[in-house]
Amino acid sequence: MEFLLLTPQARPGVALLQLNRPKELNALNRQLMLEIRDALQQLDEDETVRVVVITGNERAFAAGADIKQMADKTAIDMLIIDQFSTWEQIRRFKKPLIGAVSGFALGGGCELAMTCDMLVASETAQFGQPEIRLGTMPGGGGTQRLARAVGKAKAMEMVLTGEFISAEEARRVGLVNRVVPVGQYLEEAYRLAASVAAMSPVAVRLAKDAVNRAFETHLEEGLHLERRNYYLSFASEDRKEGMAAFVEKRKPEWKGR
Ligand code: CAA
Repeated sequence: MEFLLLTPQARPGVALLQLNRPKELNALNRQLMLEIRDALQQLDEDETVRVVVITGNERAFAAGADIKQMADKTAIDMLIIDQFSTWEQIRRFKKPLIGAVSGFALGGGCELAMTCDMLVASETAQFGQPEIRLGTMPGGGGTQRLARAVGKAKAMEMVLTGEFISAEEARRVGLVNRVVPVGQYLEEAYRLAASVAAMSPVAVRLAKDAVNRAFETHLEEGLHLERRNYYLSFASEDRKEGMAAFVEKRKPEWKGR
């Protein structure tokens, strides 16, 4: 891979993906998006990996889609390239994806952060959808996920003015789980990842699927899906083990089956 570093076991059961176009502030060109998609597909199939952390560097998580690559494209070029088809595949990643964000998370970078299941930010992180300043608008879920995450008023303000919000404000409005000093954001993301990696991977997968449905469907269908996944968890050996371990006052040993 040219623009992405993959460490399959950065911590036990936890893989790390690091965007690696530092000079371009990790601008998301087509190649990098394809590499993220392919890496996630590989990690979804790797049973030794329970959780994935995705990060950039201290200065930038990602400063958006690659403007230089897009500048001379026509609408038909965009239609044929179908820039966001890779994003759909990233969205379908089945294991928990935790974003460790420092510096700029702008445009497509903010959208990539919002496809994560949880976010740990450094105090220096800035989130924004500045596409409006380029005469365009978000296209990678920025209007939809941001509105669902922070509500209409804040989302409108960010999308229509292009203004950035700080890590602390992002935490306050519900975009980010935790904010920590810049030297600690990756470690904190690993800590969060480890606490999820310690759970049954079957239960984690079913639960992630159910929570995501809350943002994709109406309440009745979401509740139906939740109930089905809950009943399905009773087919797993891990569920038997989890309840037996509770009764026997010991730690469960998950098999992932
Ligand atoms: N695409 C391509 N290159 C980018 C880039 C981007 N999104 N963001 C930064 N870069 C490049 C700069 O061109 C510069 O390269 P050169 O040294 O070759 O000139 C390098 O990264 C460093 O950037 P700056 O010199 O601009 O750094 P700065 O600290 O002065 O400013 C910044 C940082 C505020 C993030 C500024 O770079 C910026 O505004 N970037 C663009 C942000 C943006 O508009 N993102 C949205 C893109 S569109 C999109 O994402 C559509 C979508 O919905 C998917």
